[in-house]
Amino acid sequence: MRRSDEAWPSHGGQAATLLARFGLPADRELLDFSANINPLGPPAWLAERLLAALDGLARYPDPDYREAREAIAAAEGVTPAQVLPTNGGAEAIFLVAAAHAGGRAAVVEPTFSEYARACRQYGLTVDARFLESQRFALDEAAALEAVARNDVLFLCRPNNPTGTLVERRVIERLLAAGLERGGTLVVDEAFVDFVTPDERLTPLLASWPNLILLRSLTKLYAIPGLRLGYLLGGAEAVARLRARQMPWSVNHLAASLVAPLLADHDFLARTRQWLADEQPRLQAGLAAAGLEVVPSRANFFLVRPASEPEATAGQSPIHITQEPGIGRRGGHLPWMANVAPREGFIAPPRRPIDGSIQAIKPTAIALATTEALFEHLLRSGILARHTRNFPGLDSGWLRLALRERADNERLLAALAEWRPA
Ligand SMILES: Cc1ncc(COP(=O)(O)O)c(C=O)c1O
Repeated sequence: MRRSDEAWPSHGGQAATLLARFGLPADRELLDFSANINPLGPPAWLAERLLAALDGLARYPDPDYREAREAIAAAEGVTPAQVLPTNGGAEAIFLVAAAHAGGRAAVVEPTFSEYARACRQYGLTVDARFLESQRFALDEAAALEAVARNDVLFLCRPNNPTGTLVERRVIERLLAAGLERGGTLVVDEAFVDFVTPDERLTPLLASWPNLILLRSLTKLYAIPGLRLGYLLGGAEAVARLRARQMPWSVNHLAASLVAPLLADHDFLARTRQWLADEQPRLQAGLAAAGLEVVPSRANFFLVRPASEPEATAGQSPIHITQEPGIGRRGGHLPWMANVAPREGFIAPPRRPIDGSIQAIKPTAIALATTEALFEHLLRSGILARHTRNFPGLDSGWLRLALRERADNERLLAALAEWRPA
């Protein structure tokens, strides 16, 4: 088993680096479960539309992106002044950080790594908070405190990589606390298109001037190579962010797609159908394969090998009452509802200390088992997303995207062949 010193990549979809790391041939075909991209996309009409748009390459894009802003505003039920098209959701993150340069930001980990990176790039002090380590729930009291102490709080909803979703009424309480203290709440809704029933927070914009929503079009429409996103907020806040944006930041080809993409209701309906069919199926399949699966509201799952008994000296096992809607109670952890409890299985003590938000390190055995699973999948032609650069997960988990039925079946078949050492 030869390993190179190739670094672990910091994002999904980087097969070449991982193949090299595990000494596998560079041309090995892999099914990519590491990037959370809609497998139904891009829409079939897109290539032709792009070809037609090539004519416009000899001109600069409209610096105000009027057509794109109007299309987004109409789709979202806001005014064009509340919309800023961006070069992917990533640019929106960096614009918000730039607007708070030198200030203080809170980031709720484990989450998308670019919030902290953008903040550091613009000299913000980063106040890292952690989701409660049992269920990845937000500790509301701690989040309220974080909003009050910082200029900006980044929240990802649904959260990458946990797939969990902070309740809307909690968001409203955070907004109220922020408004009192001059704090902005930034909610990254990059994956909100995959959530049913609809959970987007756009209606809150009418009441909360301190709310900024970040959107990505690259996940739903499978165009990460093209770069397209936008942000929404109060007209004044959007004007301030726009003042920091590089001119013509969104290229003509991407901008020309905004209106037709948002008008493609059929594509969205097919995506919703795929989600309704495959999401519960894969969740149950992963659990049946012996994995702990965090119940996800998004198009990906955070998983890890179900824990074996650990040294629990002086600590009693944790038994959590079944939450409604999760299904038949099986294992001891709420997201293991569909896993028959194994003989002698004890949930390890991952309880947060003092009920506060704390990252609890997985044991060395748990880490080795997760890495072995990652390697087994890679050798079976399946690329998972490691979690090495997600503070609070520290490589104890893997993230798996939802794909089409046949691919999901291949993943489950590979898992069925896995024998932990
Ligand atoms: C939560 C989250 N926000 C934003 C982005 C960036 O998306 P985009 O491709 O639109 O820049 C990503 C990409 O993985 C993401 O996971």
